[in-house]
Amino acid sequence: MDQKDKTPEKNAPSKSEESTVISMEDNKTDKTKIKKEAVKTDESDTEKEKNNTKQQNMKSKNSQTDLGKFFLDALQDIYYAEAKIEESLAKIKHKATSEELQEALEDHELVTKKQILRLEKIFKHLGEEAKKKKCDAIDGILKEVDEMVKNTEDGSMTRDVAIIIGSQKVEHYEIATYGGLVQIAITLGHEKVADLLETTLDEEEETDFLLTEIAEEHVNFDAAEEK
Ligand SMILES: [Fe+2]
Ligand SMILES: [Fe+2]
Repeated sequence: MDQKDKTPEKNAPSKSEESTVISMEDNKTDKTKIKKEAVKTDESDTEKEKNNTKQQNMKSKNSQTDLGKFFLDALQDIYYAEAKIEESLAKIKHKATSEELQEALEDHELVTKKQILRLEKIFKHLGEEAKKKKCDAIDGILKEVDEMVKNTEDGSMTRDVAIIIGSQKVEHYEIATYGGLVQIAITLGHEKVADLLETTLDEEEETDFLLTEIAEEHVNFDAAEEK
């Protein structure tokens, strides 16, 4: 037999050596892990600092120009308006006669809740506190909607005609506001904010379209049949 075959392989570790190698490997992995985690924490801290600086820069940019101030003011105005619209939808959805209109109002109530959260996200993105500013226009429109509802009979389709017209007045106010705000956001270089506002604008336009459809397909005809 060749002598070479009898000799144990020089580089192969014994069992105890193997476990030492493994535990040394483990140790190495742990250290690398700790190091990586430390780097990660450092990175997230740096990221946080970067975001804070970004928001502070954004905040001072908002108050630097008259247009920036106007934009912020208009956001506070629509933030107030959306909260009032949500309250009104919660009341009015129970007053509609047709199930179709009740559902449409209920859906828009949920959409409005999301729009309020979206506005809060916009304020945060701009580094500003979410504040409401009294909006006389929406208070006036909603007061008129209430009166129109009161002046129609409970359970009638004319009641639905009134609710649809009133709601469309609200939608058109919102469409005008968001349409303008999207363009101002683009002008001020707030692309992300413009995208968020545009999502809301699309939702308001869809609601307006749906209300027109409900009126033209059923409600107006049914109301015309009433005494
Ligand atoms: Fe809205
Ligand atoms: Fe709306």
